[in-house]
This record gives sequence, structure tokens and C-alpha cells, in this order.
Amino acid sequence: MKIEGLFPEINEIKNVDLRSKVEHSLEKAIKQGGWNEQDLHRIPFTLLIPDLVNEDLSVKISIIEHIRVVTQMCIATYEKYDQLGLGDKLNRDELIAGGLLHDVGKFIEYERDENGCIIQTAEGKFIRHPAMGLELVYEFDLPLIVRQAIVFHSKEGDKISRLKEVEIIHRCDFLCFAPIKQIFEEN
Ligand SMILES: [Fe+2]
Repeated sequence: MKIEGLFPEINEIKNVDLRSKVEHSLEKAIKQGGWNEQDLHRIPFTLLIPDLVNEDLSVKISIIEHIRVVTQMCIATYEKYDQLGLGDKLNRDELIAGGLLHDVGKFIEYERDENGCIIQTAEGKFIRHPAMGLELVYEFDLPLIVRQAIVFHSKEGDKISRLKEVEIIHRCDFLCFAPIKQIFEEN
């Protein structure tokens, strides 16, 4: 499975070493989760919006689409900061890497049950994807920003001071969740 084909945004990472670590992290997560390419597009990005899943078990917004959109929002945010003359205050490569990897743990937090429905694994319920993701990528020695994005992008990080890039990832992630939840609840 070509990571670059699933997540073309990976090509925006200029540092070759970081790009390869991101690629290996995603590969490992998908492999460990036991997902094939077709399955990946049938994983909803969250289990908190039941209407994301259609009757035929296809999904309206997959985890792949969510990760890509969050990363694209991070890149767009970087561009706005650059317009404000603040581009050099952010690490663009690590911001993109963090966007691509923030939900890496979801590939092992979720599994398919005997009816074909996506559910949380037993470990997933008690450890959740942020900690599972950090544990999963340990061997790749990722930069601090990227590791913090994985472990503290969500509510786990609410009492932690997030790094600037992680603050952006956290907010883009939330933008790609809370209003969407409202939209589905309206219908
Ligand atoms: Fe996310």
C-alpha cells in the first residue's frame, strides 16, 4: 500500500528523513491494525457521530479524509501566518507531520466486529488513540512537536501547554469535528 497515494500531503514535508519517518509510522499503524486499502476508506473518522456510517457500512467521512483535511487546514493556517510575517516562527515540516500523524493511533484503537461495524478495541476504550499512537511510533524517534501532536492533540492535552504547531493541529482537528457533529445532529 502506497502511503503517498493515500496521503499526498506527505510530499509537502521537505525534510527527507522526517518524511520517511512519517511514512513508516503510518505504514506500521495500518499494518498493525490489519486494514487493507478498501477497509481504510470504510473507517469513520470518529465513533461519536453514528450517522457517518451508511446502512451498507460505507462512510460519509473516513479517517483518511479527516487526516487529509486536518493536514490541509494546517498548511492553509501556515500560509496565513506567513502572510502575517510569522511563517518563520512555525516549523512547517513538523506541523504537516503532526497533522498527518495526530490520529495515527486510531488505526489500532478501532477494529471491525463480526457484523462489519467499526468499534473500539478493548485497549482502545481504556488507553485511547493518543497514547496508543505515541507508543506505536516510539521506535521512529519523531521530533517533540510531532510526538506532542500525537499524544496531546485531543482532550488528553487540555491541561498541558501545547506547542504552537500542536495548538494549530488541535484547533484544525476540532474544526474538523465539532461543527460536523452539529451538522449531522441537525439532520
Ligand atoms: Fe483527528
